[in-house]
Amino acid sequence: MNTNDSDVGSGPREDKAGKRTFSRKGFLAILSTYAWISGTILALIGAVRSAVPSVLPDPSKQFKIGRANDYAPGFTRHYADENVMVFCDSEGLYAISTICTHLGCVVQRNESGFQCPCHGSRFDRDGKVLKGPAPRALDWYVIGRLPGGKLTVDRSRPVVPGTKVKVGGPDA
Ligand code: FES
Repeated sequence: MNTNDSDVGSGPREDKAGKRTFSRKGFLAILSTYAWISGTILALIGAVRSAVPSVLPDPSKQFKIGRANDYAPGFTRHYADENVMVFCDSEGLYAISTICTHLGCVVQRNESGFQCPCHGSRFDRDGKVLKGPAPRALDWYVIGRLPGGKLTVDRSRPVVPGTKVKVGGPDA
């Protein structure tokens, strides 16, 4: 009876010259083992990567501005890193964006309000448009109070222009 040696067993064998060889079955077994190991490693890498968010959350748009009693009418502070100016007058505190509503340049303060260096828009002291091309007034942002009494400005929450927070008194 004639048998085909190449299909018997799957482990390495020695040929007539003494060299170690693999049968086709053995070769396929080794190949499938490597494929299984590679697939498992790739699946583990995918599982680890899926646990890491691919989009980082927005950095906070809220920042602290001190306590209410740090401010008195006439006080002005420019938070340049936040592109916000905080003002205090006899009616209270308020925060105005220094980002131009035309194309987003940073406006500069002047004696009549604000001026945009990019295309010449002008705004009054409350941020209302005096001259375009800015299509609308500068944003005003909400001023909040943390439990410890510190005040915050939240650039993600615009408020109606004219909204002011009272300073002084028992809540200050
Ligand atoms: Fe301010 Fe154009 S960006 S006027």
